[in-house]
Amino acid sequence: MYLDVIANDDRSDKDREQLQRLNAAVYPPGDSTDNPGAGLSWARTERSVVVRITVDGDIVAHAGVLTRCCLHNDRPVRIGGIGGVKTHPEIRNSGLGRQVMTRAAEILRDDLAADFGLLVCPVSAAGFYERLGWRAFSGELWIDQPAGRTLFTINQVKVLPLRGEAPVSGTIDLCGFPW
Ligand SMILES: CC(C)(COP(=O)(O)OP(=O)(O)OC[C@H]1O[C@@H](n2cnc3c(N)ncnc32)[C@H](O)[C@@H]1OP(=O)(O)O)[C@@H](O)C(=O)NCCC(=O)NCCS
Repeated sequence: MYLDVIANDDRSDKDREQLQRLNAAVYPPGDSTDNPGAGLSWARTERSVVVRITVDGDIVAHAGVLTRCCLHNDRPVRIGGIGGVKTHPEIRNSGLGRQVMTRAAEILRDDLAADFGLLVCPVSAAGFYERLGWRAFSGELWIDQPAGRTLFTINQVKVLPLRGEAPVSGTIDLCGFPW
């Protein structure tokens, strides 16, 4: 297995096709599982941390990262976001999710100088993130949507200390679409 980091702007057609294939394996078309996030507008991440089967082979695990200047209790904070975390269903529980998440957190802390990490997740994935040191944020999370500023309520919110402490309460404003 090979860990790779791809900037969105540098994605080749092959990368794009492999990412789409992974997405379709994780979220099969026609799957009737309820997706409460389907009605929201989401931000695109800026880089992808991926695991490939061979050096230029199929992508089997992915985590997207981005940074954004946001507000916590009206004070500016640089948040490192993680989204689009997924492992191919046939190769789960082999440590690949942990591998992409660990590298993603290193990039956010060391390269992108984020104060803390933030992600949103369904209850079904909460235990995975908790094992990796992410904590529950129990305050309010505000996001922008085309219709205006909105309180985010559909998923759990998790935070991770990076360059600084991660707040677990108060009000965070993402000042943009969620990820
Ligand atoms: C969640 C997901 C990314 C985990 O990927 P994975 O490659 O199987 O994870 P790993 O094998 O690295 O697991 C790391 C640890 O978390 C545990 N774990 C994995 N999935 C878990 C879950 N859903 N709940 C609780 N613990 C979980 C593993 O047992 C392992 O524990 P260990 O360190 O004690 O051995 C994968 O199940 C997935 O793609 N799910 C569908 C998409 C999804 O829900 N993504 C998250 C959206 S926010």
